[in-house]
Amino acid sequence: MTDPAHDADTLRERALTTLTTARARTTLLTSCVEDPDLTAQHSPLMSPLVWDLAHIGNQEEQWLLRTVAGREAMRPEIDGIYDAFEHPRAARPTLPLLPPTEARHYASEVRGRVLDLLESTAFHGTRLTEAAFAFGMIAQHEQQHDETMLITHQLRKGPQALTAPDPEPAPLLTGPSEVLVPGGPFTMGTSTEPWALDNERPAHRREVPPFYIDTTPVTNAAYKAFIEDGGYDDDRWWTPEGWAHIRGNSIHAPLFWRRDGKQWLRRRFGVTEVVPPDEPVLHVCWYEADAYARWAGRRLPTEAEWEKAARHDPAGDRSMRYPWGDDDPGPEHANLGQRHLRPAPAGSYPEGESPLGVRQLIGDVWEWTASDFLPYPGFQAFPYKEYSEVFFGPEYKVLRGGAFAVDAVACRGTFRNWDYPIRRQIFSGFRTARSAGDV
Ligand code: AVJ
Ligand code: FE
Repeated sequence: MTDPAHDADTLRERALTTLTTARARTTLLTSCVEDPDLTAQHSPLMSPLVWDLAHIGNQEEQWLLRTVAGREAMRPEIDGIYDAFEHPRAARPTLPLLPPTEARHYASEVRGRVLDLLESTAFHGTRLTEAAFAFGMIAQHEQQHDETMLITHQLRKGPQALTAPDPEPAPLLTGPSEVLVPGGPFTMGTSTEPWALDNERPAHRREVPPFYIDTTPVTNAAYKAFIEDGGYDDDRWWTPEGWAHIRGNSIHAPLFWRRDGKQWLRRRFGVTEVVPPDEPVLHVCWYEADAYARWAGRRLPTEAEWEKAARHDPAGDRSMRYPWGDDDPGPEHANLGQRHLRPAPAGSYPEGESPLGVRQLIGDVWEWTASDFLPYPGFQAFPYKEYSEVFFGPEYKVLRGGAFAVDAVACRGTFRNWDYPIRRQIFSGFRTARSAGDV
């Protein structure tokens, strides 16, 4: 093999960089508040931050030190506490969790041994070591929990603990508000991306009829028009389940929004501010996204439509890694990695647009799709059923594209996220579509 991307030193360097980047973020998220805020439960939807911290270390120990390197458990008595399937989030504060100092010590002890292991690992022989997959999986796992911890920070009451510079204002958008994606087959999923997770595999052909898709995510201003048109009071726009949910829970606006006379305010990481009109709407559930789309005479894109819009290169009839091509994401392409603590205005990142001119598919806000979370034809659970397989089914809807809270290592054109249709503490927004036959 002479492919330079598979060169052992390159792989070792990439594994080291992504693990180190993830740990710097974990440290920031668990050191910007005092210890009582790490052990408190800020919302029944979330774990105490100190649970995420030790769980990160425990997964790393289980997969890299025990499974890959065959070592003995460092602290076998804690495995059960940090098994996400043994204890639901709401019950985690009652567990005998490692206190902050011990949790930090455990995670850094694991990491020290992992970095030693990385020096001596050959990146072939087993599926876990091939192309350093297990190291990439663990870096992605840590980043996913960093996103989870950022959600906990957003839910936390109290003064601001995190800061980041705002994104640049968007360039003036002069193009159309939607584009036509021609019908025909495209390649969905991947069999070649080395660190793609099991649910993104394998690559397979999908026939997708022609459709139009929004060039940017739906903005706060557009969403406000839906609210002000009485969208939350009109059952025509809602599925029966969605209607029952918003009425039963008195939902009248995105999470964290509050009306103040004529204007809308929102709380964002401890700061209250006027809702910015040109920013993609954030913290809406699937039911709200679906209702908005119906009100607008449109619909949510299916997952296949979303991925075709994001990856299909009409010139070469091939699927690219990202809308802009095959290069890894840079700051010019997308708002990723908690570089900012908010989405960038609609129309940002012209260098990240797709060949057809669709912007912000990657980064900014997770985008709800119309689709249930289902396996691709030929799916095989790897390396454990509890990552994807146990979640397949109609209870979960797929989200695509990542958000400002998602690191590049855990974001690909093929990456699939999923959640319940009622969830809105996540960094979720959406864009709309319509079939090309429709007026
Ligand atoms: C892919 C975001 C749905 O957080 O539940 C973390 C990621 N899996 N640890 C989740 C995950 C195991 C997962 N999501
Ligand atoms: Fe986890």
